[in-house]
Amino acid sequence: MKLKIEAMEGMIWIFVIVPLFALIFFMFGTEVGLLSLIMLPIALVLKNAFLKRSFSWKPAYSVGVNIFDEDHRKLFDLMLQMHSALNRMPGKEEARAVLEELKKYTITHFGREEALMKKYAYPGLDAHRKEHEEMKCKLEEFLEQFEKDNVTVSKKVLRYLQDWLIKHIQVTDKQYSDFFNSKGER
Ligand SMILES: [Fe+2]
Repeated sequence: MKLKIEAMEGMIWIFVIVPLFALIFFMFGTEVGLLSLIMLPIALVLKNAFLKRSFSWKPAYSVGVNIFDEDHRKLFDLMLQMHSALNRMPGKEEARAVLEELKKYTITHFGREEALMKKYAYPGLDAHRKEHEEMKCKLEEFLEQFEKDNVTVSKKVLRYLQDWLIKHIQVTDKQYSDFFNSKGER
């Protein structure tokens, strides 16, 4: 059943794109039809460039501690890898492997942050850990969902992970920057 859904999604070109171009040629003539054929790959390249940018770590996300910035960079890379895998047909096996790796690396990263917080008795440790725990549960839920659902649902999941990570870095993680810097951690 799962394979059937993936195959159908992979055939979107035949069922949607080809009739759409036929309609454009039929309704607007050869010139507009050819122009739209040229514009499609350009639009796809621009879309991919935009996506790559949205799944990239940016200097504005820096939390002021190198090792954590590196972890966050890796998490963004894994999300981009997952997005690319979901766009490839059949790419679900690869996407599953990346999601597993994303879960593993997220847990490692959370552990690293919490260990440093513990070392310096960071006052916000409990609240921060609670946020991490919630995300760990969500990741577990996502992995189960991933087994059952199709690629479209998985893309929504990925968007959720991306939004969560950006918000967590920008709001919660950045609260520890000055604290760790004052302890000599950079
Ligand atoms: Fe964190």
